[in-house]
Amino acid sequence: MGRRHFLAGLGLAATADLMTSMATANASPRQPTDRAADPDADAADPSGCDRTVVYGCLLHFLDDPGDPPAEQAWELFEDGALVIENGKVVWLGPVQRLSDQHTADAKVIDHRGQLVLPGFVDTHAHYSQVDVIASYGEQLPQWLDKYVYPAESRFDQPRHAELMASFFLDRMLAAGTTTASVFPTVHANSVDAFFAEAERRNLRVLCGKVLMDREPHAPSHLRDLSVAQAREQTLDLIARWHGRGRLGYSITPRFAPTSTEQLLQMVGQLRQERPDLWLQTHAAENRAEVDLVRTMFNARSYIDVYDRFGLLGPRSVFAHCVHIDDQDRTRLAATHSSIAHCPTSNLFLGSGLFQLAEARGARVQVGLGTDIGGGTSYSLLQTLNEAYKVQALQGKRLSAARGFYLATLGGARTLQLDQQIGNFQPGKEADFVVLDWAATPVLARRTEVATSFQERLFALMTLGDERAVAATYVMGKRHHSAPARS
Ligand code: GUN
Ligand code: ZN
Repeated sequence: MGRRHFLAGLGLAATADLMTSMATANASPRQPTDRAADPDADAADPSGCDRTVVYGCLLHFLDDPGDPPAEQAWELFEDGALVIENGKVVWLGPVQRLSDQHTADAKVIDHRGQLVLPGFVDTHAHYSQVDVIASYGEQLPQWLDKYVYPAESRFDQPRHAELMASFFLDRMLAAGTTTASVFPTVHANSVDAFFAEAERRNLRVLCGKVLMDREPHAPSHLRDLSVAQAREQTLDLIARWHGRGRLGYSITPRFAPTSTEQLLQMVGQLRQERPDLWLQTHAAENRAEVDLVRTMFNARSYIDVYDRFGLLGPRSVFAHCVHIDDQDRTRLAATHSSIAHCPTSNLFLGSGLFQLAEARGARVQVGLGTDIGGGTSYSLLQTLNEAYKVQALQGKRLSAARGFYLATLGGARTLQLDQQIGNFQPGKEADFVVLDWAATPVLARRTEVATSFQERLFALMTLGDERAVAATYVMGKRHHSAPARS
């Protein structure tokens, strides 16, 4: 059983009662103030105090709850407190157990009545496709040619790349996402722009120069001139950015059709030389693409192509994997490779329905990806909404518990960042998102009639989006606040 159960029958009125009793029962000498409503509340404290106590309904996951969800996989503190020091979690639990030691000289952030979760993890997106989102009428191959490649060709201009990186990261934070694995373009300066903007926001992100060198699928103006030069540029970027603060380098071959065998060989070798790097690419997204790759590489399956060149392994993240079979899943699991499930993109581009239960059955690690701009939302809540429907179309389910696990710890595990982020275990970096149960009239109404915590959580994952994000915090500091409601 869970450390705390999802409480049945807890509506908003009951929460208000609980909050009142919590406030009176709270022995802490410091009462929560309304500093959370003050946009400047997180400015550096001149007294030098670096301890913060966050009050709210805390939920985090210790493991995959599975299906049906097993309660020992999460902890829920309805009137909880999260203690942060130097940007890291030092304690969490019920307010009643908060000690004076925790509250002494601490700054107080009051999110009582709201849900506090670890920051969302987007395991696959393209910051280079900010302007591509909602492009009409094509499936993957034609969509790339018609919309994506023209948009990406502008990233040779540093100013454009900076503006796009800034826009993307701000939208990501507004959606409650604090970590992402992101594709830039083939241009080295597009990596510089992204990492610089992420560093300015102190975000834990992964990125790496897109590698693409094969005619005719890689257009000439977006093609690496040689494998040797692509490797040089990659090594230079790794030296400058990998492991700097919270930034990590991910080797990024775009996908098999834009890769020569020599390029994939170079990537496999680099992966072997540098197991501290990540790898991200696309796999088995679209049926025509899968047929093309099998022919081009004379292979049994798409995954087999990457396997042949040594691309599978821990820290390798394969986006989509819609059209894979049991043999592929067995191989992905055996090599500790991960999948980024991108439901809004797979639906929008008509790519197909991801087999989530089969991936779990084969013990393949899965996280959620927005796949901006094939995907249609920056919000992992909306991504969960669509992920649920993808399962429903296959006669299956996705519980709220498993959904929020996938959006947090599941994503961190997918990126092998779960030693740093993904839940509130002491020692982890304190990235978190605060969600408002009543952000919209529809959500408020549905939440009010819900008879269990799980029901409320499911309403949030189905009806929620950026409007439900009250605030986003990065290493204990607020980086986004919801606009005031009229
Ligand atoms: N496959 C190769 N490139 C891309 C891309 O940019 N987006 C998606 N969704 N699939 C791809
Ligand atoms: Zn993608």
